[in-house]
Amino acid sequence: LRVLFVTPEIHPLVKTGGLGDVSGALPQALAELGVDVRVLVPGYPPVLERSTRKRVILEVKDLPGFPPARLLTARSEKTVPLIVIDCPPLYRREGGPYLAPDGKDWPDNALRFALLGQVAALLGSSRSPLAWRPHVLHCNDWQAGLAPAYLHFSRSGRAATVMTIHNLAFQGIFPAETVAQVGLPPESFSIHGVEYYGQLSFLKAGLYYADRITTVSPTYAREIQSEPLGFGLHGLLAARRDHLIGILNGIDTEVWDPSRDPFIAVPYSSACLERKRENKAALQRDLGLPEEADTPLLGMVSRITTQKGVDLVVRIVPRLVQRGVQLALLGSGDKTLEQALTALGQRFPRWLAVRLGYDESLSHRIEAGADMFLMPSRFEPCGLNQMYSQRYGTPPVVHATGGLRDSVTDATPAALADGTATGFVFEALTQEAFLGAIDRGLALWHDPPTWRRLQRAGMARDFSWKHSAREYLKLYRSLVREA
Ligand code: ADP
Ligand code: GLC
Repeated sequence: LRVLFVTPEIHPLVKTGGLGDVSGALPQALAELGVDVRVLVPGYPPVLERSTRKRVILEVKDLPGFPPARLLTARSEKTVPLIVIDCPPLYRREGGPYLAPDGKDWPDNALRFALLGQVAALLGSSRSPLAWRPHVLHCNDWQAGLAPAYLHFSRSGRAATVMTIHNLAFQGIFPAETVAQVGLPPESFSIHGVEYYGQLSFLKAGLYYADRITTVSPTYAREIQSEPLGFGLHGLLAARRDHLIGILNGIDTEVWDPSRDPFIAVPYSSACLERKRENKAALQRDLGLPEEADTPLLGMVSRITTQKGVDLVVRIVPRLVQRGVQLALLGSGDKTLEQALTALGQRFPRWLAVRLGYDESLSHRIEAGADMFLMPSRFEPCGLNQMYSQRYGTPPVVHATGGLRDSVTDATPAALADGTATGFVFEALTQEAFLGAIDRGLALWHDPPTWRRLQRAGMARDFSWKHSAREYLKLYRSLVREA
């Protein structure tokens, strides 16, 4: 079975969030199940610089409206074979994959990601000049959303298509004129097509034309079929519910393994949990917090946005300080929230350490060094950090939404008694409920034998990709049988 996995980012070459992690690990897990999978990714500078064995396999010169591009096969140490779209005018520039150095979207993002869709559709159609022809195009997020639309209109034999939603809040919406610029036929611009309130929506295109839709947790698959988490697309998603499934993400258990994590001060496992303490001391030292084993230390690594509930964290900081709790927070994003956090850090230097920016090493050290991990997300399609933190013996405190609900077992008396509890889940998104869950955590933290059981239960959970990869394989097979 041949699958082309289409994505705008892939760890370890380029990552802005969870999609990068997923694109790095899921194709690998599929390959281990015998799927012949390749990843199609734009040739941003880090992708070209950090990949090896590059070889040109195709010149793509005749796409109306697009600059010429070359397709390269390439490898990276930890990934399945890559197909890289080298198009210097669109991708070879300094800055992020989506944002310019000034923090704004690249003005030509429509064209940049339409090309990703065009190339995917070309490789998935019987017009493809390549010998390797995928049975399935697996498209991820809005950046890959046009591929199913192009394929639909290509009037040739075609691969089956799967559209995966990693975050419905990002839809890739552009002015109506873009339809012609990116080479979509005028008849596609309809409510039964790519049109969304008078504009072009890349994500809607994918959701409308793909054979199947998946998202990254079963709970989120339900939540997006109605308000408020359907972000305007709930009608379409509800109408397509028979073709929509939620498959919980896994994690890369090699990259995230406290017993051999090169970033952390001291490796540890559930058999030698006392060594976790040294990681806490090292983290407190690194961040300039008082090095106190008896002071609980909460951690958070996140995009700084209201999606992630950072505003709620800002509001409870003074009450955490009253409780004598330290907080280590790493992230970047919304400038107003960043400033609020920085101001709190200056006001409470003994309690709060804020590090703005992207820092992979520190993200591992926070997972290893913190006593608990905070994820009060307003919505969370899946979320990965709550899984990392369970694996690191750092019980998470999470809002009951999306993948957080599906991957954390609340420490109720019953779950504690039967040994299934792994964290703290709160229902209402309020300061009181959030603090209530933290307080439940603090109470258990002061009861070391119970705490250790909670830590060990989380560390023993199998969050590997094996199970989810099997679900995707089942889905691909069902599509190929239908064809
Ligand atoms: P999302 O994709 O919505 O941001 P996820 O929980 O799925 O959320 O994935 C976020 C990923 O990005 C995790 O691997 C997390 O550790 C990482 N991450 C987020 N912010 C930072 C940061 N500032 N520095 C390092 N890693 C970060
Ligand atoms: C998105 C979501 C996150 C999910 C990730 C990977 O960025 O916000 O919840 O874990 O994609 O699927």
